[in-house]
Amino acid sequence: MEIKANYELFSPQNRIMYTALQESELLSQSKKFIQSNILKSSDIDLIKACIRYHEWKYYIQNNAVITDGEYDVLYNLLKQIEEQNPNLVSSDSTTQRVSSDISSTSTSVEHMTPMLSLDNTYNIEDLIDFDKRIKKLTNMSDDEILEYLVEPKFDGGSMAVIYENDTITRAATRGDGIKGEEMTANARTIKSLPLHATFSKFIIHKAELRGEALIQKDNFKNLNLRREIDGLPLLANPRNAATGVMRVKDPQETANRNLDIFIFQFSYAVDTNGVNQLDQFATQDDMISALSSIGFKVANQERKVCKGIQEVYDFIQTWAAKRDQYEYELDGMVIKVNELSIQERCGYTSHHPRWAVAYKFQAKQATSTLINVEFQIGKIVRSITPVAKIEPVSLAGVTVSSISLHNEDFIKTKDIWYGDQVLVERAGDVIPYIVKSFPELRKPNAKPIEFPSHCPECNTPLIREAEEVAWRCPNFFCRAQIIQRLIHHVSKEAMDIDGLGASLVERFFQLGMIQDMADIYNLDYKAISTLEGMGEKSAQKLKLSIDKAKSNPIHRLLHGLSIHHLGKKVSKLIAEHLDNVMNLQHWTIEKFIEIKDVGPVVGQNIIQFFADPKNIQMLEKMKASGVNFIQTDEDRPKQVSEDSAFFGKTILFTGTLKNIGRKEAQELAEKAGAKNLSAVSANLNILVVGEDAGSKLNKAKAIPSIEILTEEEFLLKVR
Ligand code: IVH
Repeated sequence: MEIKANYELFSPQNRIMYTALQESELLSQSKKFIQSNILKSSDIDLIKACIRYHEWKYYIQNNAVITDGEYDVLYNLLKQIEEQNPNLVSSDSTTQRVSSDISSTSTSVEHMTPMLSLDNTYNIEDLIDFDKRIKKLTNMSDDEILEYLVEPKFDGGSMAVIYENDTITRAATRGDGIKGEEMTANARTIKSLPLHATFSKFIIHKAELRGEALIQKDNFKNLNLRREIDGLPLLANPRNAATGVMRVKDPQETANRNLDIFIFQFSYAVDTNGVNQLDQFATQDDMISALSSIGFKVANQERKVCKGIQEVYDFIQTWAAKRDQYEYELDGMVIKVNELSIQERCGYTSHHPRWAVAYKFQAKQATSTLINVEFQIGKIVRSITPVAKIEPVSLAGVTVSSISLHNEDFIKTKDIWYGDQVLVERAGDVIPYIVKSFPELRKPNAKPIEFPSHCPECNTPLIREAEEVAWRCPNFFCRAQIIQRLIHHVSKEAMDIDGLGASLVERFFQLGMIQDMADIYNLDYKAISTLEGMGEKSAQKLKLSIDKAKSNPIHRLLHGLSIHHLGKKVSKLIAEHLDNVMNLQHWTIEKFIEIKDVGPVVGQNIIQFFADPKNIQMLEKMKASGVNFIQTDEDRPKQVSEDSAFFGKTILFTGTLKNIGRKEAQELAEKAGAKNLSAVSANLNILVVGEDAGSKLNKAKAIPSIEILTEEEFLLKVR
């Protein structure tokens, strides 16, 4: 489906000079620049090509072949040479993505052709009607099979982007479909949108593309986490997070959001004489492949050419099932007649093309009534989280009755009162969210939500530190907090003690069997076996899991201590620099902040934790029970040899492996510098086949660039 990377990365004048360069040559050339760390001004086009290549690998293919640090070296070399030779700076240089002296205007600009909407369908019957309508419009008989291109309907903001002479010249929002608002400077900050693309390869001088600017769900979650910490209002959903910065004045603000763009339409293309060049493509799929081949991000892994409406429906169903796991928010699928000549015969209404239709997934929004608010000791240590209890509603198959209201400011800015009608959305992930309240529907006797002044658990007066949005209970020994910390300690994220869940921790705590974390490793299993519902066998099983957890790598223990801001990632970073957990008693703040991505706030929190004799006593008790405090192999930074045959490669295992488990094989590959993929595509470098390999092997055989290895060959090479 995808045109392999015969991607041209060069400016027109240098295309001839560098066209012969293959991916491997670009990589080795990049390594040379990185090693020497010097650049002659005559090499500027070559380094630009290298950088463009790595951006393409990273932002479009999701398959980086150099580290972030190495990329920075290349970027800085280019920046330096441009600073010394301002005449060499060109607008398609990646250093020019964010420019302080240009901003997007709010000028209204006309689209090359109208940006229409899509008609909606909701079930198989609607799809069958659509298929019949097309056949009728184009005089086809009912039993002929039509080909459709089906791809996700990305939920962001649509954009039209114009390229002239292989360079981006204008971007605009959809607006009213005829005219949109100019947003070129902001669009240029989107790393998956090439500033330069070789349309000339298709004899195209001027082109207009349509696409959806959007934001990754994970990125959205991090943005909101950051905003919560900074006391800024939360963004409602990934769509708003993306559309909210498309038209802002300062391009840096757009750049900070890390937008992405999927291109889904090639809406206009002419040569230097103004002659239409779109008719060189036979199908919608060809058009999209062509755009992919010159560096655009398109739905390569996500789209399928389906024969007939049943296949369309089946493909939609596979996406309906996996939409929650997908990295971007989708609100449906788009079905387009694949053959462009048939599209043309179908034509358009003033609202939508007759050859395309959207299939909408079940709504993720609904209204409900807020019944009550509970104030709980939240996961963010010591903070009080208001949780709304609402009349249960079903959102895309999940019943929601409980929603976090985050903090007092959230309640105030959203103007939420007891008894209010609220609009609920399951956004970005499976976490539900209150989008807004409807004050206009409020009853006259309604009461506002009062935030408590004292801890609901231990009655200590709550405090709110300057610049923090959360109210916290300052009592470290508040029962609710101790329980929360214990639950976190044993959780999958931290010490991962199988069979010791929240309810059992709470039960042991109530019974006085566990008072602090160290007690977990000193349980009286005899006593446990006599508890109702437990017995000898479960007590033994529990002992096994707890004993196993004792030899966990230290990053798990660090994360399990519930130190404010000491998350999984920072724990791993610190563990890489730590021989023995107890050494943290002697660490200074400088030592923490020397580690990349470890900040002073978490450093200070750790110092405070280790300065408290009670904590040291608890840790000593833990150590005496056999919990590992020493750095293990898993904690040490991974050293991957670049000579490894797997370095920077993508790999997939299929069929039954005889000598080794699948997971173990994947870990070996990863250790050797490879990245595991889950499907066969042109992005795959190596397929390892075990016994009874099926469709994946057949698919891989059709892609010549994929190296196929037997299990034995893999093991020989990797060890
Ligand atoms: S095709 C003429 N494909 O959905 C056909 N649209 O409701 C125009 N959208 O304004 C649209 N993903 O912003 C198309 N894969 C996709 C899409 C997509 C998202 C948006 C687009 C459009 C809206 C129509």
